[in-house]
Amino acid sequence: MPAHAGHRLHTVPLGRVLDGLRAGGPLGMLERTGRQSGGALTRLDLGTFRPFLVTHPDHLRHVLRSHGANYRRGTAMWKAMGRLTGLGITGEGPRWRASRDLWSQCLSGGAHTLADATAASVAGAVADLERRVAAGATVDALAEMTHVVLRVVNPVFFGSRIPQQQCDRLAAAVAVAFDSLLWRMALPFVPLAVPMPGDRSFTRAARTVREILLPLISRARHEHHGGPDLMSRLLDGADADGCPLSDAHVAEDIVALFVAGSESSALTLTWVWVALAGHPEVAAEVRREADAVVGGGPLRPEHARGLVFTRRVLAEVCRLYAMAWAVPRTAVAADVVDGVTIPAGATVVLSPYLTHRLPAFWERPLRFDPGRFAEERVRGRHPLAYLPFGDGPHQCVGQSFFLQQAALVVAAMTSRFRIAVPAPAEPRAAVALRPRSRVGLVLTPH
Ligand code: HEM
Repeated sequence: MPAHAGHRLHTVPLGRVLDGLRAGGPLGMLERTGRQSGGALTRLDLGTFRPFLVTHPDHLRHVLRSHGANYRRGTAMWKAMGRLTGLGITGEGPRWRASRDLWSQCLSGGAHTLADATAASVAGAVADLERRVAAGATVDALAEMTHVVLRVVNPVFFGSRIPQQQCDRLAAAVAVAFDSLLWRMALPFVPLAVPMPGDRSFTRAARTVREILLPLISRARHEHHGGPDLMSRLLDGADADGCPLSDAHVAEDIVALFVAGSESSALTLTWVWVALAGHPEVAAEVRREADAVVGGGPLRPEHARGLVFTRRVLAEVCRLYAMAWAVPRTAVAADVVDGVTIPAGATVVLSPYLTHRLPAFWERPLRFDPGRFAEERVRGRHPLAYLPFGDGPHQCVGQSFFLQQAALVVAAMTSRFRIAVPAPAEPRAAVALRPRSRVGLVLTPH
């Protein structure tokens, strides 16, 4: 395949789409399509719905950067999610801009205080795990990683105003709501008025979320004393017209953060253990680094910067297990991408998961190799060949927060436990990229 995109459109007729879906589900179909198209702009024929699949880095540069304003969140999937997350950060326009500016400040602004809370929470959660789990017992990786992530979320998002149990309940409801959007995501052209599987559980979960959050927010507003946590910052924040945010707006934005951040973080951390279990030499190096950088002392935020190899491991996990396997956009006006006409109103689906597997940009793409992220190798790469956190105006605002937290989790876990994964795990496409079946972790304290 040429590293430069050719002027051609690869089309996948309905029969082949269905064969692919039958053989390997949405992810298998997508992988097969990716292999056959080799980065060419692709049109999938799904009957009346014919989305374009965009994977080549040059095309991504067009859609996300140079012509980013023409490709917006407009599909029913975004609208469905908007019923829970509002039209702030998951939307477009002035409300999105106001939320985004506020959040970017929150996640970098009071970074120092939040970073201390993050390190202390990670250390506490991993110490708890050691107390709770008998040596050699098998635990559920995703459940444990979710637990760790939520321990961090509570002080950082809520200033620890919410009992941990309530925080876990909130996260469970948000996960149900998020997962029940799968059909809306798979068939984004179906109008919201048409009922679809998942709608009922979405409504129920959304109600639970509001029941937990709204009283908490009105109490917090009442007792408000400021603070670096996200809820305090939102309560102090203003909308696009400079007016204070309503309780409902604060709740929507907090849920949007949950949706955007918690599950993807816990899932990515789960894939870390799968990847390390298959590569003992890499796992040994991660452990050596954790011992050298953290030693026996308390975990501190600045350790994350010293965990250079661990961060490469995380980058490689984010490449191979990109949560964003499909990111839909709608073309506002007709456009031409690399000689191919995209009609106004067409759905364009980006897939970092497939871009990360293009052989023209990644040598032996399926091989797990953290060395790909050594500085000199990154320098020579197309800037859009790697986009686990998206790119352009909607690029993830939680990226550095996640990477810092994740490096500390990996260091804390590897310095306490020898970690084995008894059975191999394969991904499947839910709204994010989940393991096909439960991933067990056997934890043996060193
Ligand atoms: C492994 C962890 C994560 C992954 C893989 C990830 C991935 C992504 C991707 C691909 C996007 C772009 C979506 C698009 O273009 O429509 C995105 C956006 C976003 N992410 Fe993340 N994310 C992660 C963690 C987080 C965390 C921890 C937070 C918050 C604390 C967060 C907050 C957001 C927000 C608010 C947006 C929307 C930004 C906007 O539309 O302007 N993410 N993320």
